[in-house]
Amino acid sequence: MKFNDIKLLAQADMDAVDHVIRKQLYSDVVLVRQVAEYIIQSGGKRLRPLITVLMAKACGYEGTHHHTLAAVIEFIHTATLLHDDVVDKSELRRGKKTANELFGNAASVLVGDFLYSRAFQMMVGVGQMTVMDILANATNIIAEGEVLQLLNCHDPDVDEERYRQVIKYKTAQLFSAAGQLGALIANQYEPIQTQAKEYGTYLGNAFQIIDDVLDYSGNTEELGKNLGDDLAEGKATLPLIYAMQKANNEDRDFLRSVVIEGGTDHMDRVMAIINATGSLIYTREAAEREASLAIDCISTFQDGPYKNALISLAHLAVERNH
Ligand code: IPE
Ligand code: IPE
Ligand code: MG
Ligand code: MG
Repeated sequence: MKFNDIKLLAQADMDAVDHVIRKQLYSDVVLVRQVAEYIIQSGGKRLRPLITVLMAKACGYEGTHHHTLAAVIEFIHTATLLHDDVVDKSELRRGKKTANELFGNAASVLVGDFLYSRAFQMMVGVGQMTVMDILANATNIIAEGEVLQLLNCHDPDVDEERYRQVIKYKTAQLFSAAGQLGALIANQYEPIQTQAKEYGTYLGNAFQIIDDVLDYSGNTEELGKNLGDDLAEGKATLPLIYAMQKANNEDRDFLRSVVIEGGTDHMDRVMAIINATGSLIYTREAAEREASLAIDCISTFQDGPYKNALISLAHLAVERNH
């Protein structure tokens, strides 16, 4: 299935999710509304809520609570993006100026807080302690992941293991919650919930690993984000980590100095080393392995369009260019 086929399959549900999102964005404070609507309406892929919806359906759910849960997931995601773009000093997101660029850092951070807390109000409305448990943990671990990454910045000794811990925390955690909530709301037994959760974890890993490939090899127009943001911040992601491992001594020392200093002045030489070491190929293969592990997790699910969509989503996470 192509992404459009998946969206078509889930269209009625995703329209309902959108309705919840728009309703819950409301605030009496004009600036809150402006910033929150600006980022939420600016056309994200809505991938995480899609996972919740598809998973709930694949598990046979027929109610409507998955719409609220999916909206909660998107609110948390959006809050992390508002904060992340401040931290990363990013200027472009979803093909538009970032909120920090347009409204300033203070407004971005504070409206991020608004979205987090609105998400918590909404999940309380669902009235299930397990839901709150999953989402409270996810939100907490995402924050830890971002802080962990901050500590890793400008550190040339960050290796694949430390990189993987960061992506598991900052990205895969929310994918994992998105999957688990779908199975939970459908009242599935714990082993199924675990499979749904692990599907999300592997998918999130694949997704972030490809995001890090695209930061070196993507196209700004398609991606809607500036390339080179990672290197600019002295952030060693898998493409750079592997290149450091495989490069000759001279090139390795050069890459280490680039991580320490940050900036994009030396992008051409960095790219040459990344290409010469086959680093993007290695990184893509790592993402493919995660995607196929995700697919394995749901292999015992009953066959049908929603299971197919979940399988296709895992392939698309790797094949995507935005
Ligand atoms: C961006 O996520 C943050 C990462 C984890 C890489 P998405 O690429 O899903 O962002 P939107 O919501 O579609 O813009
Ligand atoms: C995204 O991380 C934010 C979180 C996962 C919390 P990145 O900084 O790697 O992603 P982009 O490139 O800004 O979307
Ligand atoms: Mg960022
Ligand atoms: Mg970041």
